[in-house]
Amino acid sequence: MPYSIFGNKFTRHSGITELMDDLNKGVKGGDDILMLGGGNPAAIPEIQDRLTALMQELLDQGKLVDTLANYDGPKGKDTFITSIAHLFNDLYGWNLTADNIMLTNGSQNAFFYLFNLLAGNFSSGKKRKILFPLAPEYIGYADASVSEDVFVAVRPKITELENQQFKYNIDFDALKITENIGAICVSRPTNPTGNVLTDLEISKLDALAKQHNIPLIIDNAYGTPFPNIIFEEVKPHFNDNTILCLSLSKFGLPGARCGIVIANPTIIKAMSNLSGIMALSPGGIGPEIALPLIKSKEIITLSNNVIKPFYQQKSQVAIELLRQKICNKNFRIHKAEGALFLWLWFKDLPISSSELYKKLKEKGVIVVSGHYFFPGLEQDWPHTQECIRLNYAQDATVVERGIDILAKTVNELYDNNMSY
Ligand SMILES: Cc1ncc(COP(=O)(O)O)c(C=O)c1O
Repeated sequence: MPYSIFGNKFTRHSGITELMDDLNKGVKGGDDILMLGGGNPAAIPEIQDRLTALMQELLDQGKLVDTLANYDGPKGKDTFITSIAHLFNDLYGWNLTADNIMLTNGSQNAFFYLFNLLAGNFSSGKKRKILFPLAPEYIGYADASVSEDVFVAVRPKITELENQQFKYNIDFDALKITENIGAICVSRPTNPTGNVLTDLEISKLDALAKQHNIPLIIDNAYGTPFPNIIFEEVKPHFNDNTILCLSLSKFGLPGARCGIVIANPTIIKAMSNLSGIMALSPGGIGPEIALPLIKSKEIITLSNNVIKPFYQQKSQVAIELLRQKICNKNFRIHKAEGALFLWLWFKDLPISSSELYKKLKEKGVIVVSGHYFFPGLEQDWPHTQECIRLNYAQDATVVERGIDILAKTVNELYDNNMSY
């Protein structure tokens, strides 16, 4: 049966679908699959216990059934939105009202709305694009537009650091904002690299966005104040020209599909109209469960005292293992500044990162090939084929066994290649 142009675009192979498929198999596959691939957050006992207790209270009070038995408005649950406004105003003095906030079915859903609102084909006959000022960027952005060819990305500057580490920075000299750019978008901390854009980089992007009268989208899925999987001291950023996207997923509720968008009322109004058509309303379960945590600010203490140290410790263990086991001068790790991932760079790897992904998959280890994380980058750059993303958040034995197999595979590849 022939599909529409839309149908063909959204049914073909995409990196994010492969990743979610692998993730699902990994979740179901039990012991024989070492899942270092997807973006699933860890099952942190303290968080799971707290969420269980909250759900039990809601069940006892009849609120869980109430929530399931009713639609919210297209912007999502009012009580939750008002509490989010209070939380951010108290923490950062931002002067938000309910008109600045809406909920979506996960922040992935918000990006689909945003990219299609701000980029694509315009009635003037012009086409506008979303600019990723620093590639690599989140794989989930890559296909989130009904139009073709709407992303443009810029290669980063690479700074080599001690202990086989490196860091990406925005190359502002190469960043050209032409009139066909509809918005700038960054994830901070960045998925896949764990990079955190510095305050200076954010303030420069903010100035550029304002100068060109386009919004700056900041994807804060891992950032502060929750889940706060961020290991650098940086300032949260918001103003009338910022679209800040948050999520309850990495706090421990990915199955609840709750994204939070903070922006000026015009953007929020446009997006809630979209939401009404696309979804009627976003799911209410996540907001209902998290509401007491937002109201009491317990979400902040849990993020600071449980979630952040949990991930920081795990990332350090994984880095140590990788350093010990991969014995090659061409191996680098991106400085781990946040998120759930380590970004590994195998300089001059004899095979491409997607071939490495396949080899590892045959051995039962799932990682994600780095080449998916360069949406919008037109240049032919070997670096895009030399990196993989590794999720370090899973069980310690899974991570250790996975790293073991990865190290053996990579060491062999380098050793068999005469030039190393
Ligand atoms: C950077 C980033 N943004 C957005 C998302 C989407 O998350 P969700 O739709 O679960 O809120 C993810 C998920 O992994 C992510 O890593």
